Amino acid sequence: MPNKSKPTGILVSFEGSEGSGKSTQIARLAQRLQQLGREVVATREPGGTEIGEQIRNIIVHNSKGDEMCAETELLLFTAARAQVVREVIAPALLRGAVVLSDRYLDSSTVYQGIARNLAPDPVNQINRFAVGNVMPDMTIVIDVPTEVSLARIRQRASDLPDRMERENIEFYKKVREGYLLLAQQWPERVVVIDGTQSPDVIEQEIWAGVQERLGLARA
Ligand code: TYD
Repeated sequence: MPNKSKPTGILVSFEGSEGSGKSTQIARLAQRLQQLGREVVATREPGGTEIGEQIRNIIVHNSKGDEMCAETELLLFTAARAQVVREVIAPALLRGAVVLSDRYLDSSTVYQGIARNLAPDPVNQINRFAVGNVMPDMTIVIDVPTEVSLARIRQRASDLPDRMERENIEFYKKVREGYLLLAQQWPERVVVIDGTQSPDVIEQEIWAGVQERLGLARA
């Protein structure tokens, strides 16, 4: 029986700019983990809960979105995060599941803090308030050059680009640099994978990193 007072699960967050291939790799890692008999919970930010999906709509699709100031954006993203942590992630960790989160608190640090230039202290404090003590055990940054990321966004845009996707190249350069900086700051937690490689190679590198850092065995 899992010890109810202590979380036994593992939280892995995936980060990177748009078009970095996070969702493909999350699905592949989920499959490998399930083959080991592990319970896998995949969730995404913003969203992952009904409240979070509504918040996501305000942020990315609201017609007045362009008028949204950076502070509001930060508070909305972190509000969605507070909800998914308590509603989905923390209970799953208590059950012993492996939670794969498509974006987590580093997205706010990088997009709102670094790319939108909000001061680091309040961003970190608000982030920590939102997640409580639920920090990722491992964070996988899939890194692609900004030009590649922008080209992929344009290619896949079946509909009009959303508010975040309309940002200019300078914004996305800051996002990329921000993630690389985080990886330097937190080398025990953050692993950078070269996202220009084939999906199979990326999958293998992620699996090797997960084994090395988390040593996941059969449940
Ligand atoms: P979405 O289409 O859901 O995700 P993705 O690009 O990962 O496929 O859009 C989420 C957008 O919101 C994306 O541009 C990143 C941005 N974002 C932030 O700016 N801050 C945050 O804290 C989070 C979680 C996302």
